[in-house]
Amino acid sequence: MPVADRVAVSPALRVAGVLRVPGDKSISHRYALLAALADGRSTITNYAPGADCASTLSCAAALGAMVSRTAPPTAGDPPLVTVEGRGVRGLVPATGPLDCGNSGSTMRMLAGVLAAHPFLSTLVGDASLSRRPMRRVIGPLGQMGAQVTASPGDRPPLVIRGGDLTGIQFAPETPSAQVKSAVLLAGLQAGGETVVIEPACTRDHTERALPAFGVEVRVAGRRISLRGGQRLAGRELRVPGDISSAAFMAVAAAALPGSDVTLTQVGLNPSRAALLEVLKRYGADIDVTIEDEWQGEPVGRLRIRHGARRDLVIDPSEVPEVIDELPVLATLGTFGGSVTVSGAGELRVKESDRIAELVAGLRAMGADADERADGFQVRHGARLTGGTVHAKHDHRLAMAFAIAALGAAGPTQIEGADAVAVSYPSFFEDLDALAERPPMNTD
Ligand code: S3P
Repeated sequence: MPVADRVAVSPALRVAGVLRVPGDKSISHRYALLAALADGRSTITNYAPGADCASTLSCAAALGAMVSRTAPPTAGDPPLVTVEGRGVRGLVPATGPLDCGNSGSTMRMLAGVLAAHPFLSTLVGDASLSRRPMRRVIGPLGQMGAQVTASPGDRPPLVIRGGDLTGIQFAPETPSAQVKSAVLLAGLQAGGETVVIEPACTRDHTERALPAFGVEVRVAGRRISLRGGQRLAGRELRVPGDISSAAFMAVAAAALPGSDVTLTQVGLNPSRAALLEVLKRYGADIDVTIEDEWQGEPVGRLRIRHGARRDLVIDPSEVPEVIDELPVLATLGTFGGSVTVSGAGELRVKESDRIAELVAGLRAMGADADERADGFQVRHGARLTGGTVHAKHDHRLAMAFAIAALGAAGPTQIEGADAVAVSYPSFFEDLDALAERPPMNTD
């Protein structure tokens, strides 16, 4: 069901219940791209339902990989995605520009894939993506031998003429899983060895996905390397639930007294699970049960119960591992305690300027919050009033404002709420299913 562009969220007493969140967005992008480069057929169950991962699939299809969606084997699951791969360096030119929509992951990782393909490709995005920096991929892919150009200021569209690449040793200045992955995907198709040395650990889904397709990857701390020219074998894959989507419900449970939420089949990859440590520091009571491993990704159950509401400081060393969760973590400061974040300048170049727009939105709802150059602080004062807030075409802001709205005195209108379709189309239904609302006043 399409999401309305204006959604009203009313206050809740608590959140409780059991929920399975949709498939992980980061992992879905990677499986789709690797499946397109693999020999033979791959099937992907629980592929992320949002528009971002649909963009990756449609780009793969435009480049000659046969992509189809069929009914799921288990009722209630999203459709099963089947990709007929074209083999390493086997993609064919698209007939027009490749539309990456709102998805920075699609554009940056696809750039790594196309850097080794000897034809011209143009990668375009929506207004938000067209403002995002691309130098971070243009630099290393150029060093490897691809010709990559962008608009002034290194913004999309990206125009790529791929070719024969040579492996490099690359040490990005800013920690970025997208950039690491773009370089590894190019390195897979290059001559010799490619090495990425990260300034801080970032999500390692690419390093886990490549071996699932039969590629040998060496990981030694923050040094990741692979040999070019290895083939990938198509296979059956199952995507764990997205912990960054689970984060919204987990924060609501940590924030509201009496809450008790269980999230099932969630991806519990350690490079994504720092959120849980942060919530424990705030005072939440969290049980983690790892039940399985799917293609090297741990999967399990999370139970989150409200505990205390303590002051929370998130320092620069923690930021890369909770980068997508910072908007919703900020809302904890509106329920009790305070939230202080620094070293998070990267938030300014996400789907929106997530420092400015987050603080502006929370203030519009009555919060005591301020911006810092590389972070923000949210302090608990009076209860939020609610009111009207704009998501600024940013899915994670729309969902963060909805969580803050649960603690407000009155209802909150979220304008631009349809942005949730980028990563979590059923977000408002799922939140309604967990939220216990006060009885209606019928006076
Ligand atoms: C992602 C990496 C992160 C994250 C984004 C998804 C990925 O971006 O914010 O939502 O799937 O690799 P950066 O790599 O730019 O930090």
